[in-house]
Parts: sequence; C-alpha cells; structure tokens
Amino acid sequence: MPVEATETEVILTHPSDPLTSVKILNYGATIYSWKVGGVDQLWLSSAAKLDGSKPVRGGIPLVFPVFGKSQDEGFENLPQHGFARNSTWEFLGQTKENPPTVEFALSPDLANKDVYSKWDNGDNDFTLILTVELDKDSLKTTIEVENTDKKPWKFNWLFHSYLAINDITDTLINNLPGEYCYDQLLKETYQEKAPAITFHEEFDRIYKKVSTGKLLQVIELGKVIHNIERENLPDVVVWNPWVEKAKGMGDFEPKDGFHKMVCVEPGHVGDFITLQPGKKWSGSQIIYKGDAIKLQSV
Ligand code: BG6
Repeated sequence: MPVEATETEVILTHPSDPLTSVKILNYGATIYSWKVGGVDQLWLSSAAKLDGSKPVRGGIPLVFPVFGKSQDEGFENLPQHGFARNSTWEFLGQTKENPPTVEFALSPDLANKDVYSKWDNGDNDFTLILTVELDKDSLKTTIEVENTDKKPWKFNWLFHSYLAINDITDTLINNLPGEYCYDQLLKETYQEKAPAITFHEEFDRIYKKVSTGKLLQVIELGKVIHNIERENLPDVVVWNPWVEKAKGMGDFEPKDGFHKMVCVEPGHVGDFITLQPGKKWSGSQIIYKGDAIKLQSV
C-alpha cells in the first residue's frame, strides 16, 4: 500500500520499491525517516521523542514563524524555532498516486496554543500546507504559507534537515565558498573563504542569499552522499553540534552521534518575509541521490 495513515503518522512507500519509504509524524508534520532502497538518508537520535512530548531530534523538523530566537517585536516571547515543530498538524490526504504525494495542514485552531499565543499574542491568522513527495531517489518537501488575516504579518521558514552521513570528519559541503555567512558561534558576518566546508569542531553558520541555482552537495571521501536543491529558499544553515553541545542535549543520543549527521537547512531566515493579507508564499527542498560532483562558482 503506497500510503498508510495511522492515528499518529503517515507512511509512504514507493510503488516500484518497497524499501523506499518516508514516515511522517502528524506531530510537527515531522519526517522522521526517509529510506532509499532500505538505507536511511536522515539521522534520527536514538533518544528522539516520537510521542509528541517535544520536537523530534532528527529527521526534518519544520521551523516557523521564527528561526532561533528573535528580539523583534511580536517574536520576543516565542521559544527557539517557533511552534510548527511542536504542533500536531492535520493529515489532508493523498494528492498524487505516483510519485506518492501527501499533504498536511496547520492553522491557529490546530497550533500548540501555549507556543502559538506567544507570536504577536496569538493574533495572526495563517494556513500552512506541507506537501511531501516521495520519488524513487528523491524527497521533495514544499511549504505554502498563506496569510488568512486582515493585516500583514512576518515570518521565517526553514526545513531543519538532519542528513545521515558515515563520518563528519570525512565530510565536506561544496558550493558555499564565497558566500556571506553569519557565524552563530562567533556572532560575526564574513565571507566564507574555505574552498569547501569541512568540520573539526562545533559548526553553526547561516549562509545568506545563496543563489537557488546553486546545488549543495554533501560529499564523503570523494563520493556524493546527498544533493540538496532549493526553490525560493535563499538561506542555508549548516550545523553540527560536535562534542560539548551534543553532551548538553538530553535527546541527542548516542553522544558521539554527531559523527553521523550534518544539518543542511534550506530556509528564509536571513530576514523576515512580510506577507500581505490573502497572499501566499511557498518554498521547496529537494534532497536526491546522484553521484556527479558539480562545482559552481559564486
Ligand atoms: C540549528 C541552529 O538550526 O538548530 C543551532 O543553527 C541550534 O543554533 C540547532 O542549536 C538545534 O536547535 P534545537 O532548538 O533543535 O536544539
């Protein structure tokens, strides 16, 4: 059966390969497993809570309406990364047979009230539609944000994707050199000078306004592990917690699991998007398999 829905989750299986599947929790509309030919493409902490008691540590949590913490008016009381990842979304059903495609929705009536009420005092009307499309060797997630209010409001969006790798010390990410980034650890903005992104310690940078024509590739020992394409998502957060930060996160297990993951997070987080009443905005992430290394200059 290509689409199976239970009380708490939806599982899509590719019609031509029973070992290619995606599992989505209604909680946070969080994709917590994506397998291609039986191989996990996303990292999931062994201590991740899948019972709706806290955002999932791993998979693809959704970040809305704020990335990180913001002191901007209307956002200052919201917890880190907003409320989309800790609200239970509504499963709308299957919209395409092949590739199997499903939709989820979130609106104020469904949102986690405790957190939603901290965004502009819970005064913003919105509809989010998440579309998940499972192809043979790719996973596409699209978010559509609609302002159903009578006034404009602003927001960030981000797909917080935890990609599975074999070892972070053998991994690089290409096509970001020359881009401007805000280093969340140094609290500084600078131009990326390294010819490729490599990892030796905690890493937390927001690459801003990266042309969506640029493909991002996660390459391990010369082999492409993941390709990430973006539509209308100009910013890319790259994050690895390394030793100390992983130790400090109760739901991050095993503690040396930082070797096995890298977050490459397409979003619109460098500034807020202002959405006028009745207007829609959308953005997509496509993660796919494919061996060809593509080097693109700035
Ligand atoms: C990343 C941020 O996107 O998410 C990091 O850049 C943050 O600063 C990380 O630590 C995890 O956030 P959280 O709220 O899931 O622990």
